[in-house]
Amino acid sequence: MRPIARPLRVASARGRAYTIRIVAEHRNPIIAALDVPTAEQALKLAELLTPAVGAFKIGSELFTAAGPDIVRRVRATGAAVFLDLKFHDIPNTVAKSVASAIRLDVQMLTIHTSGGAEMMRAAEKSAVDTAKQLGLALPLVLGVTVLTSSDAGTLAEIGCEANPEHQVARLARLAVAAGLRGLVCSPLELVALRQMLPAHIQLVTPGIRTGAEKADDQKRTLTPREAMAAGASWLVIGRPIYGAKNPRAAAEAILESLS
Ligand code: C5P
Repeated sequence: MRPIARPLRVASARGRAYTIRIVAEHRNPIIAALDVPTAEQALKLAELLTPAVGAFKIGSELFTAAGPDIVRRVRATGAAVFLDLKFHDIPNTVAKSVASAIRLDVQMLTIHTSGGAEMMRAAEKSAVDTAKQLGLALPLVLGVTVLTSSDAGTLAEIGCEANPEHQVARLARLAVAAGLRGLVCSPLELVALRQMLPAHIQLVTPGIRTGAEKADDQKRTLTPREAMAAGASWLVIGRPIYGAKNPRAAAEAILESLS
């Protein structure tokens, strides 16, 4: 695996020094999903895992329960934060929501590419402008294409006659043309997207399973090593880590499997 960089000390918007582990090219690619319902559980997990993972994902369950304060508290552990709220609204509202997220000092966030090119351009511009104003490192706005829970029938219900693979490719191209620098994709889309997209595009992939865990609702999975070999930049891993008897050991074993 690529060598993992030592944490960097950088200055925050308020002049405080903090540590980040996202370092282009050389960093721990594991994003641990904090898919738990309370701030207490999330912080306990974050503190336990922080040296073994590259970032934490805060999704809508935890954010809706615990609010922006949980983002600040997870950031205070020194870890990078991926805020996965999948914004989808008019361009002006998405731009303002993105600015609010950047002011919370998140390093990655998601928007729906089906919001269209103008919405994506507004989101990217807002992220870049807000980070610049605050003196923060450039955050990554990630586009979500077709949700993995959708199939051809789901797309047809909403008037989209394309099959899911074509729709993913179409939205991915639109996202890149609109200036996004990253996408969320299923592990089974990695190879096709890597062939199609410029090399600088970061691909963030959930649906990772090691084989050691019980079967669950993720149907199309790859192991961490397979996903990295297929072109993933980051691996979003939830239950294989937080559902393990020893989450820290599970994260360390996954990292080890990548070396
Ligand atoms: O527990 P598990 O490893 O399946 O967690 C995966 C995480 O990635 C969850 O937070 C889930 O919501 C998210 N996710 C996903 N599939 C997508 C998009 C996001 O599993 N297509």
